[in-house]
Order: sequence, then structure tokens, then C-alpha cells
Amino acid sequence: MCGIIGIVGTTPVQSRLIDSLKRLEYRGYDSAGIAGVVDGHVERRRAKGKIRALEEVLAADPLNATVGIGHTRWATHGGPSTRNAHPQTAGRVTLVHNGIIENYAELREALKKQGRTFESETDTEVIAQLLDAELKTRPPLDALKATLDQLTGAYALAVLIDGEDELIMGARRGSPLVVGYGEGEMFLGSDALAVGPFTNRIAYLDEGDYVAIDHHTARIFDETGQPVERPVTTVPASAALVEKGNYRHFMEKEIHDQPEGCQHTIAAYVDPLTDHTSVAGDIDWAKLERVQIVACGTSYIAGLMGKYLIERLADLPVDVEIASEFRYRQPALRPGSLAVAMSQSGETADTLAALRYCQAKGMLTAAVVNAQESTMAREVDVVWPIHCGPEIGVASTKAFTAQVCVLTAVAIAAARARGRIDEAEEQRLVKVLLEAPRLVAESIKLEDAVKGIAQEVSKARDVLFLGRGPMYPLALEGALKLKEISYIHAEGYAAGELKHGPIALVDEDTPIVILAPFDSYFEKSASNMQEVMARGGQVIFITDPEGEKHAPAGARVVVTAPKSDPLISPLVLAAPVQLLAYYVAVQKGADVDQPRNLAKSVTVE
Ligand code: F6R
Repeated sequence: MCGIIGIVGTTPVQSRLIDSLKRLEYRGYDSAGIAGVVDGHVERRRAKGKIRALEEVLAADPLNATVGIGHTRWATHGGPSTRNAHPQTAGRVTLVHNGIIENYAELREALKKQGRTFESETDTEVIAQLLDAELKTRPPLDALKATLDQLTGAYALAVLIDGEDELIMGARRGSPLVVGYGEGEMFLGSDALAVGPFTNRIAYLDEGDYVAIDHHTARIFDETGQPVERPVTTVPASAALVEKGNYRHFMEKEIHDQPEGCQHTIAAYVDPLTDHTSVAGDIDWAKLERVQIVACGTSYIAGLMGKYLIERLADLPVDVEIASEFRYRQPALRPGSLAVAMSQSGETADTLAALRYCQAKGMLTAAVVNAQESTMAREVDVVWPIHCGPEIGVASTKAFTAQVCVLTAVAIAAARARGRIDEAEEQRLVKVLLEAPRLVAESIKLEDAVKGIAQEVSKARDVLFLGRGPMYPLALEGALKLKEISYIHAEGYAAGELKHGPIALVDEDTPIVILAPFDSYFEKSASNMQEVMARGGQVIFITDPEGEKHAPAGARVVVTAPKSDPLISPLVLAAPVQLLAYYVAVQKGADVDQPRNLAKSVTVE
């Protein structure tokens, strides 16, 4: 959730810490801070709010250090304030933390009884206090180990110790941490993006590892305290450096990245020479009894789309469940089923826990992830990566369409393996899927048309999104996108549910977005459109050329996406839906890439 950077440098680190925090701001932006060794002592600077607030503090009071740590926060324990900002300090210890310490309340009480006083409400300060207490009797690494042994919960840490001028210690459990190897300089970061501008040679720490870095080395230990080596990999430049280019926001750029993201992803799952699918993994589709998809947010919605595709094409039962519900309700699972975790980040705590639950039940596991070095990717039997490049905008866009591409290919592969389609049909469907990038690009050209609608929608208090079949998940996604970045209340409904309640919401002030390409559901959706209009509803009808021809008269606006096969129409209609949310948010002057209260990677429950 929070972003972490640590640098043992040879030149001043202030500007590099800030540069890195700006890249990490997508993880959280309630407060930010840095600390560094100045004349043998650790000093810190902190500010509530975004990195630019910290920059103002630093302009007035620079931190002249060559060894330092930095943090951008998504608040959990203790509201957003300078006092609760990291780094947190206790005695000789100054540290930054990502995660949640579950037993912090009891530890805090015990420390208070020892006469220790706390200046913040954070769980993080408890770690600093514990470590400071341990340092009274042990050297730093032993004190760190003794501290970690007392913690329950999730953490990634970067720690400075007063009097240890060339040392940064780190640790991870439940939250990722990477070590970056430079030339005479070493780094710690919460992901590859954090250290991307400085090095592309990275080691990913394992669960329970802790580490000490100095100018030249990283000494890594596993949770038992044994020294270990973790492989150093070279990450691709694209993962390490991400820029907005000429776009105003990452979200806008990422919407435009989608044709390429879909193309790269599809290319990994089909053979364009033979038009066959090639989906990795030792999965006996013919014998498989069920698929259980677990995910959160937009990834959950992509999973729902997968259900429609896999059940229809492959006649294979698919359950899709929100991971935070699934993990606690003790679902009845059997070996012989496949569990699929969907996650852009591959680090979402609830999805990871749900995945581990499935593993414990003996299920085969797969993960559809963007971050290929993520915890999920490392823990599953089969990784189905998406290849859309790093997604920085907090609202997911290109990861969604790339996830749907993967599940479409999986559905075709499963259908073929289960004998539900023959080779000719597999080839036809693959050809259709290969058309998706071009048609998504065409669909993005609706940008100006959608921009025109945004002004009116931005005045609404509520917006309804309706769809049938695969357009129902897309309706959910449209509502989620609009809510999270424009703060307008929105609901997505299966259009057939309209008359069972939501129709009561329809009035002349409520825009109703109906998603209805000319497919087997079209007539029913058109009837729903009539019902809405009869009650004064202002319909924004998103369809295709044939749908435009057959649409009932009276829609306030018709947006006509390119004609596409029903297999890929969710991909093609996704762009106008995302662009609508984007331009409404822009119209409202909202912070598109960093909406309030959200964070990109939700590594806490
Ligand atoms: C919505 C959004 C979130 C994420 C959710 C899961 O635009 O981005 O709803 O989809 O937090 O995140 P991942 O996919 O990283 O598991």
C-alpha cells in the first residue's frame, strides 16, 4: 500500500528519494517523509499530503545526506497527519513501514509499561520502539531479528540506526521488498519501480527475509536467521521506468495503451500462424470439474467476464467470488478444481489469502497477474501473465482489458480441450480475438464523442449502468470507474434486474448508460431502454453500428463503437466506458490518477 525507498549512496540522496517517491505515489499519498544520516545523526523531514508538500518542507530545510530512506503513506493506523507520517522514530531508530502490525495494541501496552512514550497513533512506531529497546543489548541485525520475532502481521521495512552511518536494514513479511544493486551504491524498494531510475539489477526478498545493505553488499537472512542468497535478476527497462509522455494523466495514457496491451497479451496466448491457442500449464481441461476465480475490484469484474466466456464456450462451471468474502466463509472446495487468482499487482492481500486457502484445499492454482515477480506469481502452479506494461493510474484500465484477453484465450483453449468446439471453430475464434487490438484502437477514437457527454454527466448525483450478458460485468466496471475517480454515485446492474428495484431510481436527472451491442441480448436491452425512457430517464446508449440502426428512438446520446464479434465486444466497448469516467473526473477537476482514499496496491486486508 505504502511506498518505500532506501538508498546507501555516494552522492546526496534527497532528490533521488523524492524522485522515487513520486513514482511510488500511486501506492498511497496521505503523507510522505524522508530521513537521512547528517553529520553522524539521523534527521527526518515529513509532511501531510502529497510529495509536493514534502518538497516544500525540503525547500525550506534540505536534508543533506548520502544515505537515506523515504516513504509515501496510505493511512491505516492513525489518520493522515505529519505526526503519523513515516519515518517514525524512537531513540536510535528511524524507520518506514508498509503493512499492518496486528498485535500492535498489546505490544504498545507492554512498551508503555516499560516507560516508553508514543508520539503517533501508528502501528509503525511500535516497531521502532521495540527495535530501539532491543538495540540496548544487541548489535543491529540481531536486534532487528529479535524485533521481527515479536511482530504478527504484514510488513516491509527500511531502517536507519543512529550511529550506523552506512547501513540500511530491511525486512519483509506479507509486503514485498526488493534489493537494488548499483555501482558502489545499494537500494531497497517496495517494488522495481522504486529503484527503477537507479538500477535494473534486483533481488526479490522472500517471505520472512531480512537484510542489511551498505555501499557494496546486501547481507540477506531468512526467517530463521540463516544467511541466504536471493537471485539477482535484470528487470526490463519498461518495468523500471514509466513516464506519462504527452498525456495529462496516467489513466488517459493507459486507456490509450490498451490496443498494445491487448496485442502483447493475446500474442502470448495464441499462435497467429496456426490460429491455435497456447495456454501454459499442466491442466487437464477435459477432466476439470470447476474453476474458482477469486479477485477484488476491477480484477473481480474481469473474472466475472471470464465466467461468461468460459461457461458459454467450454461448458465448464465457473464460480467467481470477491476474495475478501471467499477467504472467511470457509467455502466448500474439492481437489480436481482449478483456482484462478486475478490481480494486476499480484499482491492484493485478500486475493493472496484466498489463493492460499485454495492451495491448502489441494486445488491446482493459476494467477492472471501483471506483476510477474509478485508474490502471487511466485506462489501459484501456473502464471498467466498479462503483458500491458506497468499500470500506474490508480483506476485500473489496461490491466482490465488485458485480463479479459487472457480469459478469452483460456475459454477458447478449454472449449477445444473439452471437445466443445472443433479445430475450425478454435481457429475462427482466435482470428476474432486477434482483431481485438485494432477494434479497441478504433473504439478509443470515440474520445471526442465521449468528452462531449462528460459535461452533462458530471452534474449528475447518481448514474446507472445497465447491461446484459457480458455487458453486465462491463456495466459494473463502468460504475466502479465513475465512482472511484469522479466521486459520483454510480451503480451497475444486470438490465433484467431493473424492474426489481433500481427502476425506482430513474428520473430525468439520472443518466442511464445502457451497454448494448447488436448481439443475442440486444432486443431485451432495447426493451429496458424503452422502460427507462418511459419514466423520463436520460439514456446514453453505447452500442455498435447495427445496434444504432435498431435502437429505439429517444436516447439522449448514442455512442457507436465499431462492429465486433460478441466474443470481443466487452473489450471493444470498454474504452468508451473508461473514457466516460475519465472525462467526467477531468470535468470535475478531480485528481484522476490519485483519487481520494484509494491506493494502487492493496496489501492490507
Ligand atoms: C479499480 C481498481 C481496484 C483494483 C483492486 C484489485 O479501478 O483498480 O478495484 O482492481 O484493488 O487490485 P489487483 O488487481 O492489483 O489485485
